[in-house]
Amino acid sequence: MDKPRQLLPDTHTLPAHFPVPGAGFLPVNAFVIKAQEPVLIDTGMAIDSDGFIESLEAVIDPKDLRWIWLTHDDADHTGNLQAVMNAAPNARLVAYSLAVLRMSTAWPVPMDRVRWLNPGESINAGDRNLTAIRPPLFDNPTTIGLFDDKTNAFFSADCFGAIIPRPVEDIAELEEGEIARGMLGWASLDTPWVHMVKPVDFQQALDRIRRLDAQHLFSGHLPPAAGMIEHFLQLLETVPATVPSVAPNQEALEQVLQGRRNAGD
Ligand SMILES: [Fe+2]
Ligand SMILES: [Fe+2]
Repeated sequence: MDKPRQLLPDTHTLPAHFPVPGAGFLPVNAFVIKAQEPVLIDTGMAIDSDGFIESLEAVIDPKDLRWIWLTHDDADHTGNLQAVMNAAPNARLVAYSLAVLRMSTAWPVPMDRVRWLNPGESINAGDRNLTAIRPPLFDNPTTIGLFDDKTNAFFSADCFGAIIPRPVEDIAELEEGEIARGMLGWASLDTPWVHMVKPVDFQQALDRIRRLDAQHLFSGHLPPAAGMIEHFLQLLETVPATVPSVAPNQEALEQVLQGRRNAGD
């Protein structure tokens, strides 16, 4: 885990970077909104276990959490969910129904602590509404990002993610070309179906996000970005027509392993 960071007066990130061999790093971010009813968004990777809870505790006493919002049930978002549910007995889990049912095949999710939410539906966190939004790109059918109407922040789950060449705290530390390459590559690799979508239909999905007029973009897989959504929407607009990314194969893995052996020499 990296050090937690305050993004807005009431919004913090619990960041980590997952090394992608031969490619760079995938930021993996959870977030805390210190709303009147405090919210944790996602629960990091299991590999970080104690580090994630320590990071959370540095920002808020887990007992004060009232909501745990799960953007989807992929392992890089649910890694510490059970530990957090135990540490935060006053919190309810907000998730898409299918995510809860699928997780229930692995562990007994306490249904009396669950709130099922569909895209377009909201919860009230005391001083703000948090509305579930399906982002234009998603790698999992249970995905619900969210819009915070108090801070005008859009939490976009995996959408707008990027594999970046080095860990950074702020997106300003990356060059424009590094961001664009990383975001286009991630979009193609993580959501290959985008290449089967008619650009005009995809444009409509992007326009739905444009109409949110969000000021802040908090992706699960991008350093926090303010005032850049329009730029990123225009970048994603180009994805359907690009050549699909090819995932690394065994040859690439051999190169990575050889590189590690050489580094150890
Ligand atoms: Fe995902
Ligand atoms: Fe993810």
